[in-house]
Amino acid sequence: MTNAQRSAGEAAAQLADRLGGDFDATVVLGTGWDDAVAQLGEVEAQISTAELPGFPASRVEGHGGTVGAVAAGDRRLLVYRGRVHLYEGNTAAAVTHGVRTAAAAGCGVVVLTNAAGGLQPHYRVGGPVLISDHINLTGASPVEGTEWGTDRFVNLVDSYSPRLRALAAEVAPGISDGVYAGLRGPHFETPAEIAMLRTMGADLVGMSTVLEAIAARHCGMEVLGVSLVTNLAAGMTDEGPSHQEVLDAGAASGVAVGRLLRGVIDRL
Ligand code: HPA
Repeated sequence: MTNAQRSAGEAAAQLADRLGGDFDATVVLGTGWDDAVAQLGEVEAQISTAELPGFPASRVEGHGGTVGAVAAGDRRLLVYRGRVHLYEGNTAAAVTHGVRTAAAAGCGVVVLTNAAGGLQPHYRVGGPVLISDHINLTGASPVEGTEWGTDRFVNLVDSYSPRLRALAAEVAPGISDGVYAGLRGPHFETPAEIAMLRTMGADLVGMSTVLEAIAARHCGMEVLGVSLVTNLAAGMTDEGPSHQEVLDAGAASGVAVGRLLRGVIDRL
């Protein structure tokens, strides 16, 4: 057994002690998604992730750093509010510990949410976009140095489950989809970098999600990725992005995007 697997197993055992077991799915709520939690269901219990082994403290404003058990109808969800980023100085292993812990706790589905800059002028700021695929530009892999009883040469075709995307499209007919480019940040991109990303085929840009999606596939989980477009990408507006704008757009849309997630959970 490798370190990542052992450490996820330890965290999952403590999770079961503190929050109970039998989780069906896990939801990672990114920046600006905090208000979505009330739409997901009833929070039965919640602890700080810092109380579990292997989780670093999260310090970015808008990132709660908690994990809770949420009853959504007859489903039990493990909900992370706030996540761990590379740009806080964390390793790829630390960034993906939450997803691996959820897999060790029995979750077969992970919903990864984030705040993203939109590269498509038709994207509505404050609207959700389904992630159809990603471009990992972090230069890191959560699989490096890790084994999970599965192939380390993880197949990433259809990583963002067509089945789950179809369920989301049932809940929100006409919802846009797009390719998410994951960068290290924490600086926003230059307009020249956005122009480069567009030629690469990116529709969304952000600083998270890609490593978690890879780790989830490595653990055999089904992945749904949803971006909340909090701003148009650098160079597309006069001012350029700001963290405040990202938080404000999240606060304005949390309830609506939370309902979308709950609709998907009900159809699992
Ligand atoms: N770039 C990178 N990450 C982001 C952005 C952006 O424009 N908006 C929200 N997260």
